[in-house]
Amino acid sequence: MTTLAVTELALSHARSYKGAVVEADGRPVAIYGANGAGKTNILEALSLLSPGRGLRGVKADEITRAPERIGWKITATLQSLGHIHEVEVTYEGSGTRCVTIDGKTTPQVALGHIVRMVWLVPVMDRLWVEGAEGRRRFLDRVALSFEPRHADVSLAYEKAMRQRNRMLKNGITDPGWYRAVEAQMAIAGAAIHTNRQHAIAQLTAVREEAGTTFPTATLNLSHAEGFVLPDDAGALAEAFADSRPRDIFAGRTLVGPHRADFDATYTAKRLPARQCSTGEQKALLISLILANARALALGFGAPPILLLDEVSAHLDAGRRAALYDEICALGAQAWMTGTGPELFKDLGNRAQRLEVFDMNGTSKITAH
Ligand SMILES: Nc1ncnc2c1ncn2[C@@H]1O[C@H](COP(=O)(O)OP(=O)(O)O)[C@@H](O)[C@H]1O
Ligand SMILES: [Mg+2]
Repeated sequence: MTTLAVTELALSHARSYKGAVVEADGRPVAIYGANGAGKTNILEALSLLSPGRGLRGVKADEITRAPERIGWKITATLQSLGHIHEVEVTYEGSGTRCVTIDGKTTPQVALGHIVRMVWLVPVMDRLWVEGAEGRRRFLDRVALSFEPRHADVSLAYEKAMRQRNRMLKNGITDPGWYRAVEAQMAIAGAAIHTNRQHAIAQLTAVREEAGTTFPTATLNLSHAEGFVLPDDAGALAEAFADSRPRDIFAGRTLVGPHRADFDATYTAKRLPARQCSTGEQKALLISLILANARALALGFGAPPILLLDEVSAHLDAGRRAALYDEICALGAQAWMTGTGPELFKDLGNRAQRLEVFDMNGTSKITAH
């Protein structure tokens, strides 16, 4: 029995939707329609019910429906651990988005107490072959799914580092100017590093016992130039102080969690993920997402809501069927998209189906 699910979702003036309502019964939801019909926009709307900027990682203004540009509103009824909540995320067309839970205005982080979400989007298909930034973002999403406060420490770190980088660029050498800001960076940075290590440990722990058909990945946290990030804030503050002469020369901070990376190895083949086939790379990602979901089911008390955009791309029929079986066994409400209904045939009546189409520039949804 699913204990975490969105049972009603309403989109108002968000992206290609003027006004649309979706009802869901807790089963996985298969969304199909042509390119540009509005499938990913539904997943993005759902992702805005969790802390952060949603699955496209954009500012609130970009989501405002053109041409009206009057702001937007996402409303949802959420079943979470035996409680029913009404959640509203509103953007009035300027300023920041506003979150209410059961009619009360709350900070975004409060969403993390009642909902956990994990997503997989097509840009992640290049995760293993592109730069470290995408992998850090991926790992931070995993860390955030376990620890909602990860968003706050990340922001605190970025803010302090911007300040330090400004001093470095100005060639300031007086240690007195650096101490306070480096202490802030060290506290936030150590928390980031700990959350990431914890996230990897959680993924690894569930992997041992899961009877998954997806190939497992062994993850390894690293840092640019072979530097080893210390675990505690005191040692990290020292590392910042030691790095100052080099940093002044570079005009930016060269050590810290913002320069971390992780690599994945296809465990059974002992092959780095970047050398695997496109299909294998996708399968490794899916195995990480499923491990994340299993770990959350244990820690949070319910499997997270899964948002799987174009999930069957690069998967052969066998792997696709295996994925559906694992999602159903997990009991997660997975919202999945694909271009046609045939991609979801193996789900039979284990899923509900929504067709999305464009009507004169406005997306419409029909339940099947
Ligand atoms: N702010 C916006 N206002 C109006 N339409 C938008 C906005 N942002 C994106 N769109 C439209 O949404 C559509 C893409 O929807 P999307 O959900 O990504 O499609 P798909 O079904 O392929 O996943 C495009 O037609 C795009 O022009
Ligand atoms: Mg899409």
